[in-house]
Amino acid sequence: MARFYITTPIYYVNDAPHVGHAYCTVNADALARWHRQRGDETYFLTGTDEHGQKVADAAAANGVSPQEWTDRYSARFRAAWDDLDIAYDDYIRTTEDRHATTVQKFLGAIYDNGYIYKGSYRGLYCVSCEDYYTAEALHEGNCPVHGRPAVEMEEENWFFRLSAFEDKLLEWYGAHPQATTPDTKRNEAVAFIRGGLRDISITRRSLTWGVRVPWDSDQVFYVWYDALVNYLTAIGYGTDDAKLATWWPSVHHLIGKEIIRFHCVWWPAMCMAAGIEPPQHVHVHGWLLVGGQKLSKTMAGEGAVRLTDIAPQSLTAEYGVDPVRYYLLRDTPLGTDGDFSLEGIISRYNTDLANNLGNLVARVATVVGSKCGGVSPASRDDSPLRIESAAAVTTAAAAWEDFAPHAALEATWRLIGATNAYLEQHAPWKMEPGPEVAAVMGDALEALRIITLLIVPAMPSTAREIWRRLGLTGDVHDVGWEATSWGGFPVGVSVTKGEPLFPRISSDS
Ligand code: MSP
Repeated sequence: MARFYITTPIYYVNDAPHVGHAYCTVNADALARWHRQRGDETYFLTGTDEHGQKVADAAAANGVSPQEWTDRYSARFRAAWDDLDIAYDDYIRTTEDRHATTVQKFLGAIYDNGYIYKGSYRGLYCVSCEDYYTAEALHEGNCPVHGRPAVEMEEENWFFRLSAFEDKLLEWYGAHPQATTPDTKRNEAVAFIRGGLRDISITRRSLTWGVRVPWDSDQVFYVWYDALVNYLTAIGYGTDDAKLATWWPSVHHLIGKEIIRFHCVWWPAMCMAAGIEPPQHVHVHGWLLVGGQKLSKTMAGEGAVRLTDIAPQSLTAEYGVDPVRYYLLRDTPLGTDGDFSLEGIISRYNTDLANNLGNLVARVATVVGSKCGGVSPASRDDSPLRIESAAAVTTAAAAWEDFAPHAALEATWRLIGATNAYLEQHAPWKMEPGPEVAAVMGDALEALRIITLLIVPAMPSTAREIWRRLGLTGDVHDVGWEATSWGGFPVGVSVTKGEPLFPRISSDS
């Protein structure tokens, strides 16, 4: 059986979840759901990144302890994901004991292997990135990502011998060109490595909010070194060898484009240094932008964008969970930047959901009710919709496999369009009850059954509802991908009509 271990980045708890985070999490969830549907043994991990200067500062600014702060904000992320129907298998918090144990064992292995030494570090630090910059990388002294001044920091701490991994990483990418996708992002990682790797400071003396360095009790690990290890904590590194062997290294890390260096350079090097395989695959996505600006929590604090208006729950309350999921999956391919707008959601909702999918479901149920006595006729083996369905299933499967949910949905909506066109062409609502109408409606019902299976990963509760209306038994989420082949609709089941699935939204609302 194939295995699929997928992760999101763990989110910083210095502020509340926003729709940029939801973009990544919904995409990871849909990919995990598709792999489950396909029958793969699947493990989906998300969680929160709770240590570091930035979180300690946020807690202090609000007059609460870091633990209290992180408990509160980690719960907010979890609530946002529950609201969005995110079916994670594990939700990791880096303040959990299990995580400290793994971080200490993993970095302990790197230390024992001779890749960690004591040194002194001086550099320009951006607290928002939790990262050092060279003077040349700054824009007039400001961080290129956040536009905030980088501050001079000097500390004596422990260094990771990253420079020892330059050739090994280049060899790794040479042998595994698909280890980072899309290709443009892999090229970016490789160019960074070719530019020369300097050793990096991995601990902090000035901070107590972190995981203790096991061989130096005066220091904690720098937040990124603790954070990356979360991917191993959840699958039992240092505690459950069988679980680790099941899921590592066949992992897929879904990440945003600004954290390529951490995931595609540092992380594989750390794995090599600890004596385990690097992660098999990192897929990099772009940013959702509003008027060309990133929806960053940090910038929101400066009033550049009003993130409070675009918290995930405010969207789901307005448009429904599945329409928001659909918009996030369909509108911005995983790999490019996308424009986020309420007009965009409304337009997708009205066009794709109300006019196409919703209309198809309503029409089919109405005509089966009025012309077929409310029960399903047989589909035909030589239906033109059979070819359309097979094409949609093949294209969608390849797209999910390829981390392209937007393309899987595009193919699905082509089938929805073809089924609506087929009904318009035959106009069964104008026919007398009889074999001709039965044939057309049998075909349409079968296409709709396949469409329902195709939308399971993207729109879990809509799929469940359509399945129920079609009179099909069991939970559609327990039905495998193999059921997408033509001819599975049983004859004689009762089809029910319901309320419109997606009542149109007027665009001035
Ligand atoms: N804590 C680190 C990740 C550690 S993983 C070992 C972090 N957290 S974050 O909360 O700042 O960002 C998490 C993810 O959210 C990143 O992949 C980032 O790209 C993504 N996004 C933040 N804003 C985004 C958009 N506007 N659009 C799309 N994704 C965005 O980095």
